[in-house]
Amino acid sequence: MSQRKNIVIVGATSAIAEHCARLWLAQAAADLTLVGRDAQRLERVAADLRARSPQSDIRVVQAQFLDSTAIAAIVDSLAAQGRIDIALIAHGNLPDQAQCQSDLAAARQALEVNGLSPVLYAEAFAGHMEKANHGTLAIIGSVAGDRGRKSNYVYGAAKGLVTRYAEGLQHRLAGTQVRVVLVKPGPTDTPMTAHLKGQGAKLASVESVAQQIVNAVEAGKPVVYAPGKWLLIMTIIRLLPRAVFHKLNI
Ligand SMILES: NC(=O)c1ccc[n+]([C@@H]2O[C@H](COP(=O)([O-])OP(=O)(O)OC[C@H]3O[C@@H](n4cnc5c(N)ncnc54)[C@H](OP(=O)(O)O)[C@@H]3O)[C@@H](O)[C@H]2O)c1
Repeated sequence: MSQRKNIVIVGATSAIAEHCARLWLAQAAADLTLVGRDAQRLERVAADLRARSPQSDIRVVQAQFLDSTAIAAIVDSLAAQGRIDIALIAHGNLPDQAQCQSDLAAARQALEVNGLSPVLYAEAFAGHMEKANHGTLAIIGSVAGDRGRKSNYVYGAAKGLVTRYAEGLQHRLAGTQVRVVLVKPGPTDTPMTAHLKGQGAKLASVESVAQQIVNAVEAGKPVVYAPGKWLLIMTIIRLLPRAVFHKLNI
């Protein structure tokens, strides 16, 4: 008899996360916990998912995102309710780089929500998964974390923290049954990039990015670029000599 998966999504109102949830529930009914900062938005997502998968047990948890004690308490209570099969950490926002340069409070907020907070959540889940020797922990980073660029290096630095953290966690958990999946989306059509879409940016569809995340989680892939072409693009950008890189307006 196959057991229902126990899935937790932090930042569950994210468009990418919501589409991952739809795909997981389309595979099979599951026990799904949606964690987020806004109860109403969480309930909206939960209602839609319940309609799509009436057999699933879907609940919402309103949470703190920066308080380490509160994060530990929330994850402890989630883990106490049953062994977690998949935890996806999805929250983040795209700050205005110019504002971060002129306003340290904005820079701090961007670093905290995109770097510190996901890492603290991941660390809290990792301890429980390591103890259970079971589970897949997926964290959404970004291609922006691969090399600091003048157009978005504060966001990039936070995502770089997530990248380095995930590497270390993968090293720690190598040889266990716990998988850590680092997701690096390229520009994707979600509310976060609505302003870029208006400027004519080419964006991947949220459905395709979510599908690649779900596939990577299933396979326990250590790193996934979504869409895959961003592996090549970011490899080139990372390898560009500084003299050439500094001439680029990116
Ligand atoms: N879209 C892209 O082009 C792209 C590219 C690379 C990486 N990513 C990453 O993908 C992940 C999902 O983003 P998305 O594209 O799905 O964007 P989205 O639909 O705008 O979702 C953003 C999520 O982050 C949460 N969030 C924003 N600010 C927060 C804060 N201060 N404290 C707590 N939660 C906060 C939002 O919660 P509320 O609903 O409560 O606002 C929402 O759940 C993020 O980590 C993002 O950095 C996105």
